[in-house]
Amino acid sequence: MKLTLTFLLGSFLTEATFGWTYHYSKTTMNWTVAREWCQERHTDMVVIQNQDENNYLVKKLPIKKKYYWIGITKQHKNETWTWIGNNSTWIGNESWAPKEPNNNHSTEFCVEIYVNNDANRGKWNDEKCANKKYAACYKAQCNETSCDRGRCQETIENITCLCEPGYEGDRCQTAVECPLSQPDNGYLSCSKGNRKFNSTCRYECYSGFLMIGSPAVTCGLTGVWSGPRPTCASYKKALLAVTGCGALSALCCICMCWMKHRKRRRLAQARQPEEFSSLTSEALG
Ligand SMILES: *[C@@H]1O[C@H](CO)[C@@H](O)[C@H](O)[C@H]1NC(C)=O
Ligand SMILES: *[C@@H]1O[C@H](CO)[C@@H](O)[C@H](O)[C@H]1NC(C)=O
Ligand SMILES: *[C@@H]1O[C@H](CO)[C@@H](O)[C@H](O)[C@H]1NC(C)=O
Ligand SMILES: *[C@@H]1O[C@H](CO)[C@@H](O)[C@H](O)[C@H]1NC(C)=O
Ligand SMILES: *[C@@H]1O[C@H](CO)[C@@H](O)[C@H](O)[C@H]1NC(C)=O
Ligand SMILES: *[C@@H]1O[C@H](CO)[C@@H](O)[C@H](O)[C@H]1NC(C)=O
Ligand SMILES: *[C@@H]1O[C@H](CO)[C@@H](O)[C@H](O)[C@H]1NC(C)=O
Repeated sequence: MKLTLTFLLGSFLTEATFGWTYHYSKTTMNWTVAREWCQERHTDMVVIQNQDENNYLVKKLPIKKKYYWIGITKQHKNETWTWIGNNSTWIGNESWAPKEPNNNHSTEFCVEIYVNNDANRGKWNDEKCANKKYAACYKAQCNETSCDRGRCQETIENITCLCEPGYEGDRCQTAVECPLSQPDNGYLSCSKGNRKFNSTCRYECYSGFLMIGSPAVTCGLTGVWSGPRPTCASYKKALLAVTGCGALSALCCICMCWMKHRKRRRLAQARQPEEFSSLTSEALG
């Protein structure tokens, strides 16, 4: 039973179309009423933004009805044609039928699309808004809940979430994380208890080990730490590393490091609650 349900659900999901869908009325109406009809039942009258969308729309509408209102109008004779919704003014090079728009009667401020089988298939014609045509509508799939931390974008048969910086996943639901790596001979503590973007991690070395590099790193928006991970070197190793640089300077360096380390420990013991900040400022200073 459960298996059958899962199977049915699975096959339904794979066959569902994503992105907006087109719809049309069964009766004719003037442009204003047609738009209201679309807004009540679907999202709005169709908006076309490129030739691919124009071709796709024509393929989806039945030929029998021939003339459909589309969502582009103007208010006055000398205005530019403007799409409803976002005021786009897109018009393709081949959008208008030959000799159109002709503004017959000087009052043709609405546009129909021809859905037939002749040379004018998919072309536009300006018409009086009071004339009656079929309504061509679209239903958007994007809504407020489509994307968690991003903007929903629809194209033909596709819906995509464009994520805010710091988020990823198909619904932008996951905060970017930086890869964690514990240092040898030391330990790590992170703010907010995690390693998501914007959180800072501090490294500390076990006593007897010397930190080489900056102790604090921040997880960036792209999941990359702000700097390289510091290393905790033993004093013996540090000594070996510098023997090549001449005995005197090496000795001097080790001396200073040792003193710094002692001072750090003393400070840490004296000021338990402020251990963290004093350590940091010491290391940075
Ligand atoms: C479209 O233009 C009209 C009139 O200029 C304006 O009132 C409206 O806010 C605009 N809409 C958008 C989405 O820009
Ligand atoms: C208007 O909206 C459509 C989608 O409905 C989009 O493809 C187009 O880029 C938008 N145009 C402008 C000028 O914002
Ligand atoms: C203008 O409209 C009238 C009908 O209202 C029609 O007879 C005529 O052919 C149209 N003219 C053009 C150029 O489309
Ligand atoms: C469209 O039809 C409605 C209702 O019949 C009417 O009130 C409205 O004036 C008409 N609009 C146009 C532009 O003809
Ligand atoms: C919102 O859109 C998503 C797809 O992006 C869909 O799964 C969900 O059911 C929609 N929610 C509402 C309230 O319409
Ligand atoms: C949907 O669009 C996005 C971005 O344009 C693209 O990366 C993705 O492959 C598309 N998905 C499908 C199923 O076409
Ligand atoms: C990251 O942190 C900075 C400073 O603390 C803050 O201004 C910003 O809003 C944070 N970004 C996010 C996406 O939380």
